[in-house]
Amino acid sequence: MKKYFLTSAQIALILVYLVIFAGAFVRLTGSGMGCPDWPKCFGYYIPPTEQQELLFAAGKEYDKGQVIIKEEALLVAKNDFTSKTSFDSTNWEKYTKHDYAIFNPIHTWVEYINRLLGALAGIACVITFILSFGYRKENKKLILLTFLICVLMGFQAWLGKTVVDSVLNPFKITTHMLAALLIVALQLIVIYTVKKHNKTLVFNQKFNWILAGALGLTIIQIVLGTTVREHVDIVSETGAPEIMWLQNPTIAFYIHRSFSIIVLLTNLYLFYLNRKLTLGFNKINWVIIILFIEIISGILMYYFAFPFGTQTIHVVLATLLFGVQFYTILESNNKKMLF
Ligand code: HEM
Repeated sequence: MKKYFLTSAQIALILVYLVIFAGAFVRLTGSGMGCPDWPKCFGYYIPPTEQQELLFAAGKEYDKGQVIIKEEALLVAKNDFTSKTSFDSTNWEKYTKHDYAIFNPIHTWVEYINRLLGALAGIACVITFILSFGYRKENKKLILLTFLICVLMGFQAWLGKTVVDSVLNPFKITTHMLAALLIVALQLIVIYTVKKHNKTLVFNQKFNWILAGALGLTIIQIVLGTTVREHVDIVSETGAPEIMWLQNPTIAFYIHRSFSIIVLLTNLYLFYLNRKLTLGFNKINWVIIILFIEIISGILMYYFAFPFGTQTIHVVLATLLFGVQFYTILESNNKKMLF
C-alpha cells in the first residue's frame, strides 16, 4: 500500500490541475451547457457525436432518461420502451431544468471530457485515501488529510454544479476557486510529507516571512481576479464582443492590475535573496517565470481584447503559482534540513 501511495497522490494532484484546466477551457469555449443533464449527458454515459442520434427514430430502444431534440425542445424518455413507427408524446416529458436545446458536438464533448476528468480526479483522491491506511501506524495525519481532500472534492463537484445552476453567483465562483486552492494545498502537504528530501536547503527566517507574505498576496490577487472575471462574465453573457468586455471595468480590475506590481516586486525580492544568500529554493525561479507569463496574459486580455486561450492560461497559471509558492513554503519550514 505504502509503495503506491506517493504515486497515487501525485497522479491525483495532476488530475486536479487538469480539472482546473478543463474547467477553464469549458468556459473559454462556452461549452458549459454542452450536456443539458447531469451526471449523464443527453441521457447517455457516452454522449452522442451527431445531431442525428438525438432525433426521434422509429423502432429504436429508448432507456429511461434518454433525451431527444424535437421542435427545438428537449424531451426525456419517461421509461424504457421501443418506439413505434410514429412519435408518441405519452412516452416523453419535457425537460424542465432549462430550455437549452442546441446540439453542438464540440461543446458536448468538451463538457463531457471535463466531467470525465472530474470523476477520474475524484477516484484518484479516493484511492489515495484508501492507500493512506498503509501509514496508519506512523502517520495518522495522512489518513485525515486524504479524507479531507475527498470531502472537498465532493463539495467542489456539488458547488461546480450549483455555479452553473445559479448562473454566475459571485460568491460561489470565488468559493469554488478558494476551495480548489485548498485542495491543491492539502495534496501538496500529503506529497511533501511522504517524499524523500535529500536536498540541502538553507533556513532563513526573513526569506520565510516574505515567502509567506508573497503567498498571501497571491491569494488576495486571485480573489481580486475572480471579481474581475465575474464582471467579464456579466458583460460577455450579453453577447458583447471581446473588445467591450473591459471597456467600463469595475474598480476591482484597476486594483487587480496594479496589485500585480506588488506581487511581482515581492517575488523578485525573494528571487534576489535566494540567489544572494544561496538558500537553494530553486522553485522560486519557476514562480518568476509563471508570474511573467501571468502578467503578459493579463495584459493581452485587457489591451488586446482577450486573444483565444489567454483566459485559460491566466487562471491555470494563477493556480500553478499558488501551488509552487505553497510547496516552497513547505520546503522552507522543514527544520530538519537546517544547518
Ligand atoms: C500576479 C499576477 C496575477 C494573478 C495571480 C492573477 C490572477 C487572476 C485570477 C485567478 C483571475 C480569475 C480567473 C477566473 O476565475 O477565471 C484573474 C482574472 C483576470 N485578470 Fe488577473 N492576475 C494577475 C495579473 C493580471 C494583470 C497584470 C492583468 C491585466 C493587466 C490581469 C487581468 C485580468 C483579467 C482581465 C481577468 C478576467 C479574466 C476572465 O474573465 O477570464 N491580471 N486574474
